[in-house]
Amino acid sequence: MGVNDFLRACALAALGTVALSKPVYTHRRAAFFEAQKLADPTYGPVPGQDPIFNTYWGKAPTWPGNLTDPVLPTKKGPPGVDDQVWQNLLAAEWIIFNFYQQAVEMFNESSFIAAGMPNTTYQRVKEIRNNEAGHLRMFQTQISETSVKPGACKYHFPYYDPASFLALGTVLEISSMAFLTGLVQQVKLDKAKGAMLTIAETETRHEVWALMDIWKMNPLGGPSDTVFPYANEVLGSTSNLVVAGSCPKENPEYPYPNQHLPALGASKNTTSFVPGATIDLAFTDPQNQPKFVPGKQYYAVFFHGLKNITVPIDTCDWPKKSINATIPAKFEQKGVIATVIADTPGAPTKDTIVAGPGIILEQPEPLGVKLAQLS
Ligand SMILES: *[C@@H]1O[C@H](CO)[C@@H](O)[C@H](O)[C@H]1NC(C)=O
Ligand SMILES: *[C@@H]1O[C@H](CO)[C@@H](O)[C@H](O)[C@H]1NC(C)=O
Ligand SMILES: *[C@@H]1O[C@H](CO)[C@@H](O)[C@H](O)[C@H]1NC(C)=O
Ligand SMILES: *[C@@H]1O[C@H](CO)[C@@H](O)[C@H](O)[C@H]1NC(C)=O
Ligand SMILES: *[C@@H]1O[C@H](CO)[C@@H](O)[C@H](O)[C@H]1NC(C)=O
Ligand SMILES: *[C@@H]1O[C@H](CO)[C@@H](O)[C@H](O)[C@H]1NC(C)=O
Repeated sequence: MGVNDFLRACALAALGTVALSKPVYTHRRAAFFEAQKLADPTYGPVPGQDPIFNTYWGKAPTWPGNLTDPVLPTKKGPPGVDDQVWQNLLAAEWIIFNFYQQAVEMFNESSFIAAGMPNTTYQRVKEIRNNEAGHLRMFQTQISETSVKPGACKYHFPYYDPASFLALGTVLEISSMAFLTGLVQQVKLDKAKGAMLTIAETETRHEVWALMDIWKMNPLGGPSDTVFPYANEVLGSTSNLVVAGSCPKENPEYPYPNQHLPALGASKNTTSFVPGATIDLAFTDPQNQPKFVPGKQYYAVFFHGLKNITVPIDTCDWPKKSINATIPAKFEQKGVIATVIADTPGAPTKDTIVAGPGIILEQPEPLGVKLAQLS
């Protein structure tokens, strides 16, 4: 760290963007200053050019995943038009990157082979981890110099062996494909839309790899994947993976804005998620339960492909009796179905949604059932 770097960071602190009031340990401070170098978009390895984002085989985090501090603004001024969307996406990317990084640290080549998976699996997991580190860098450079680039929080992921890790990964990848269809509708700049599409395509390749190599199934997912317009609601449903209070205080709220909707899942006794199956709904966060107005009609709205189908639900006796809903039999058994509980058919605006979204995995469907039984 040079004197100039130090002075620059102090000047930034004076801008009011950060309070460096508490004394910090030296190694913490060194890491903080190293992270500030990321403010320069030309600094360090470039995704699409540097091999580390593909073929770095170390167990330690891929750069810049090892620089976990937030990157402070270097200029005062109004935020870039799409900064808020990229900040949400960068914060989500820290979750995904760490999801893979923790698996790289927890497992090795033999763990996947012992679980009956191909001998290339550990290497692929590392390569996906590297791709995700490339996303971290891409999203950092999309955020303008007047806005903070969020740092990493602490996370807890409910996996304990190679199979549960890959099952959750399959859901996370296809969920990210769905929320990117919503985020792309939030950004203003055309080039930002293009950049987001390339990320969705990359996540699709990760998903297809898992479907073919790990789950040994037909990877084709129908004529289109699922569009879900309310991306922040999907991001909001990942907040259970973030350890409460663990985020750097300079980070913006994640996601922003956040409706704090009650989480929606299926009850543990669910035996099938095929279209036509009836499921009992579960509101899985005891601290955040839905409030149903007596006498008012509510609906389960299921999104698949480019369409949605609405099913009325009976909330009268809830929570004494569970609420059920039948997954529309019309849907093909492909990809995912995103589900929300709404007070208006079709959930035409985000304010009509009262719980969810819940993501129903159709490929492979038994995996979704297993995950629901575990949750
Ligand atoms: C982060 O990784 C880079 C590249 O491997 C390394 O040079 C740097 O020292 C690391 N920094 C920290 C704080 O771990
Ligand atoms: C993988 O980890 C297991 C358990 O920690 C260990 O016994 C094994 O030798 C490791 N295999 C490799 C290839 O590192
Ligand atoms: C990995 O598996 C493939 C086929 O399943 C086999 O041909 C190859 O020899 C294996 N490689 C190693 C290093 O075990
Ligand atoms: C499933 O569990 C819920 C409670 O979570 C219960 O109300 C419901 O009756 C059960 N359904 C079946 C088919 O066992
Ligand atoms: C679904 O709920 C309704 C209303 O509470 C109930 O009459 C019906 O038996 C339930 N169906 C199943 C399959 O659990
Ligand atoms: C769901 O479909 C209905 C009917 O086509 C449409 O009016 C509504 O806007 C759709 N909802 C969303 C969130 O796209």
